[in-house]
Amino acid sequence: MNDPSATPPAQPRHVPVMLRRCLDLLAPALAEPGAVVVDATLGLGGHSEALLQTFPAARLVAVDRDPAALELAAKRLAPFGDRATLVHAVYDELPEVLEDLGIPRVQGVLFDLGVSSMQLDEAGRGFAYAQDAPLDMRMNQSSGISAAEVLNTYPPGELVRILRTYGEEKFARKIVDAIVREREREPFTTSARLVELIRDALPQAAKRTGGNPAKRTFQALRIEVNGELAVLERAIPAAVAALAVGGRIAVLSYHSLEDRLVKQVFAAGAANTAPPGLPVVPEQYQPRLKLLTRGAELPTEDEIAENRRAAPARLRGAERIREDMR
Ligand SMILES: C[S@@+](CC[C@H](N)C(=O)[O-])C[C@H]1O[C@@H](n2cnc3c(N)ncnc32)[C@H](O)[C@@H]1O
Repeated sequence: MNDPSATPPAQPRHVPVMLRRCLDLLAPALAEPGAVVVDATLGLGGHSEALLQTFPAARLVAVDRDPAALELAAKRLAPFGDRATLVHAVYDELPEVLEDLGIPRVQGVLFDLGVSSMQLDEAGRGFAYAQDAPLDMRMNQSSGISAAEVLNTYPPGELVRILRTYGEEKFARKIVDAIVREREREPFTTSARLVELIRDALPQAAKRTGGNPAKRTFQALRIEVNGELAVLERAIPAAVAALAVGGRIAVLSYHSLEDRLVKQVFAAGAANTAPPGLPVVPEQYQPRLKLLTRGAELPTEDEIAENRRAAPARLRGAERIREDMR
């Protein structure tokens, strides 16, 4: 029997998604001494810990916007001493973070997008629709507006757009009509009332498929509250720009909007941009990225059986093969 008092304080509470594949994708770039790998979404430090263990010559710079995640991960990564530098930042601030650390280029970048299992599991954060909790959903609770404020103050048309675009919710109009009626009676504060309202607003047939009917609305609110897509749209090109030639990037997305964005940035980097008809493609038009995955790779059925949260994951990787001369 293990001595329970010997259990490390930061209990790994989740399994890192597609871990082996992420490590394999980044491996060729991380063998050399002095290689720097960025974990743009530290979370509980699962991927970061494995990166430090697998690539003993590499140094890690890890970022998270959630101070609670940084605190837990710091304990987990303490045994690696100064090989790990943890920074409280939003991941589109990566260029400034690297500049402050005096790191001009990096050899690897990993993004594991979305919310961490800790954020989902802690009822008080308001991410989960399965338990009644304050409608917060901010990854950094010290700034920005909460999901309740979005629900209670946004014009109806704006709410419909958010539910449709970020939640791909077909019944956005019906749900928003119900929200507007309800919020006039009494502003929203906790999740259970919203979940119940969504359940009542949806037609019977829509409730029989696709899991909890509140799932899409919660996803949409979370994306809006944290400005997730706007930040990602800046962050992926910035991460590619930070890669040294030969450096590699791997991105795990959890819904089609994220994945589409990643796909577009990678495809643009991997495209030859020469005007048609040139017999030889001059250097400045050559692609600066090589795709490492064919389309998006999915988790195996075994992984999904062990870890339900891996189910929607989509992994894409790319290698920087040329300086930007465009
Ligand atoms: C899925 S979790 C990462 C889990 C991690 N790979 C692990 O193995 O423990 C995503 C993390 O990214 C953080 N995050 C999400 N968006 C962010 C952003 N724009 N900037 C910085 N961190 C972000 C969240 O706070 C969360 O802790």
